[in-house]
Amino acid sequence: MNTLNQFLAQHLPEHKLPQELASVLESVAAACLDINAKVCLGALSGVLGMAGTGNIQGEDQKKLDVIANNIMIDVLKANTNIAGLASEEEDTYVATHENGDYLVLFDPLDGSSNIDVNISVGTIFSILAKPEGALTTESFLQKGREQVAAGYVLYGPQTQLVLTVGHGVFVFTLDDANQFLLTKENPRVPESTKEFAINMSNQRHWFAPVQQYIDELLAGETGVRGKNYNMRWVASMVAEIHRILMRGGVFMYPQDKRDPSKPGKLRLMYEANPMSLLMEQAGGASNNAIEAMLDIQPTGLHQRVAVFMGSREEVEYVYHLHQK
Ligand code: AHG
Ligand code: MN
Ligand code: MN
Repeated sequence: MNTLNQFLAQHLPEHKLPQELASVLESVAAACLDINAKVCLGALSGVLGMAGTGNIQGEDQKKLDVIANNIMIDVLKANTNIAGLASEEEDTYVATHENGDYLVLFDPLDGSSNIDVNISVGTIFSILAKPEGALTTESFLQKGREQVAAGYVLYGPQTQLVLTVGHGVFVFTLDDANQFLLTKENPRVPESTKEFAINMSNQRHWFAPVQQYIDELLAGETGVRGKNYNMRWVASMVAEIHRILMRGGVFMYPQDKRDPSKPGKLRLMYEANPMSLLMEQAGGASNNAIEAMLDIQPTGLHQRVAVFMGSREEVEYVYHLHQK
C-alpha cells in the first residue's frame, strides 16, 4: 500500500505538478501528525479546556486551537517552498520565505466545541500559488478554483488525510507506524441522498428558502420530495464533509436573520473553499446560494460565507429555491 510520500512522488509528475508541492503537502501532513498526537492524549497532554484568549473571529479559543495553530506555523515556517501562511487563529497573514512558491491557508482545529467531549475534530488546509511580486494580503485573496491543493485531516476513530491536487480525491489512513497509507481512491459523492446536515436550533432565524427546503425534507414521503430523510449534525465540518464524501448528503450553514451583515458562520478561505474543491473533485456541488463557492472573488482573509455543499441534486434544489 502506498505511503503519502510514495503516492505524491508518482501522482504529481503524472499531472506535471512540481515536487515542491509534494514537499509542502508532506509538511502539512507532518504538522497534522504532531496535532494528532496531542488530540489523542487529551487531558493527558494538558490540551483540553479554554485558552483564556480570543481570536479575530470573536471566538474564545480552546487550548488545542492555540496549540494546533502554533504547531502548523512552526512546522510550515521551516519549509522554504512556502512564502506565507494564513490561519483562522491569526489576525493577519504570516510571511515566511520570500522566495517560496506557495501560500498555505488553514483552520488548525475545526470543530473546537467537540474537543472536550471527545467527538471528532480536524485540520483543514488550502494551498495557493504565490503570485508574482511582494507578499500582501491580496496575494491570498484568490478564488477557490485557483487552489493547487486542498484537504483535511480528520482526527476520528481513524486518523485520515483526504486531499486533492485537482486530479481526483485520495484518502490516507494513519497506520500504527504513524505513516499515512493510501486506502481509498476517488470516493464519489452520490448524486442524490436521504441525509441532510444543518443546525436545526437556528430554524426560526432562517430566511424563507431554507425554511421551505427543510420543511419539505422533514415532510418526507408525505410531502413534495416523496421520500423520508435522515439528519446528522456533528458540529465539526470536517466530520460532516468526510461523511458526505463517503456516503453522500447535504451540509448547510446558511445566512440567517440574526446578523444579516454576516453572510454565514463559516469562513471562505480555509473552510468553504478547500471543502468545495474536494466536493467538486468527487462529483458533488457547493455554493453560497448565489454562485458556485469556487467562483467567489474573496475580499478578506476571514470573510464568512453561506454554505450549501454535497450531493448535487440537493445542492441544486435548494439553490433554485433561492432564485424564486
Ligand atoms: P471551528 O471549530 O473551526 O470554529 O469550526 C466550527 C464550525 C464547523 O466546524 C461546524 O460545522 C460549525 O462551526 C458548527 O457550528 P454550530 O456550533 O453553530 O453548530
Ligand atoms: Mn472550522
Ligand atoms: Mn477552527
